[in-house]
Amino acid sequence: MSKVTANYGNWMPEEMVYGAAAGSAVLAAAALGVSLSGNRYRRIFAPIAAGSAAACGAYALYSAIARAAFSYDGKRKLSRDIIDGIAGYVTLPDGGRGLDVGCGSGALTIACAKKNPRAQMLGIDTWGPEYQAFSRIVCEKNAAAEGVTNARFEKGNACHLDYPDESFDCVVSNYVYHNIVGKDRRKILRESLRVLKKGGTFAIHDLMSKGRFGDMHAFADSLQAEGYQEVHLTDTTKQFFHSPAEARLLMLGSSTLLWGTK
Ligand SMILES: C[S@@+](CC[C@H](N)C(=O)[O-])C[C@H]1O[C@@H](n2cnc3c(N)ncnc32)[C@H](O)[C@@H]1O
Repeated sequence: MSKVTANYGNWMPEEMVYGAAAGSAVLAAAALGVSLSGNRYRRIFAPIAAGSAAACGAYALYSAIARAAFSYDGKRKLSRDIIDGIAGYVTLPDGGRGLDVGCGSGALTIACAKKNPRAQMLGIDTWGPEYQAFSRIVCEKNAAAEGVTNARFEKGNACHLDYPDESFDCVVSNYVYHNIVGKDRRKILRESLRVLKKGGTFAIHDLMSKGRFGDMHAFADSLQAEGYQEVHLTDTTKQFFHSPAEARLLMLGSSTLLWGTK
């Protein structure tokens, strides 16, 4: 009988790569069609369509490169490096509980559960349409494939966690908050930290550019001022998870790990 293996999917959805490639082809065909037509506006429309085709083509190329780098089956296995790197920050007490916010296909939840077999991990996610390959069922299948019995998954929103204050001994997250648009991301971080017990550990990795998150150094200082035992901000693009060049190529240049002890 063949062994079932976990399938963690890819942070760069397949639809994104094929959608951009198809868009580029359609726009290129439109540019050609318009330029060969007798349309009196062709000198305006053809370059616009050609420029859009080039932009879509460039995005298709970028997304294909990123997908290959992220793949759990590929040569680079960047996702695996990042997941294992974050899980390395998590040590749960026996009988303790950890939360993974935005667990996707369950990779980080399962990695933390494996590392802490006497504790329980919970992965939550909205599992919306943006990441069609991720779902609660996928997470549960992956946990079973990995032989992990101390991980559970449920639907939940990072913006309003359905748990009382100080419910968990650790909170982890990877590349989630930047996806949530139109919200104050530091408020969402606060919501994750709200459910963390005093003395619990946190390791939250995301694209923490100033534009997305505001001044994260001031945020870290405010946690420290409130009595958090340890607060660190680590730039993971400096040979930690990436080389700076790779991070730039994959548009992950502001990857930062906020970690410490409450
Ligand atoms: C790039 S994926 C990362 C998945 C997972 N953390 C990992 O490292 O494999 C981003 C995830 O964030 C989830 N997400 C987006 N908005 C969310 C929200 N408001 N609450 C919870 N999860 C959310 C998406 O559904 C998706 O699974």
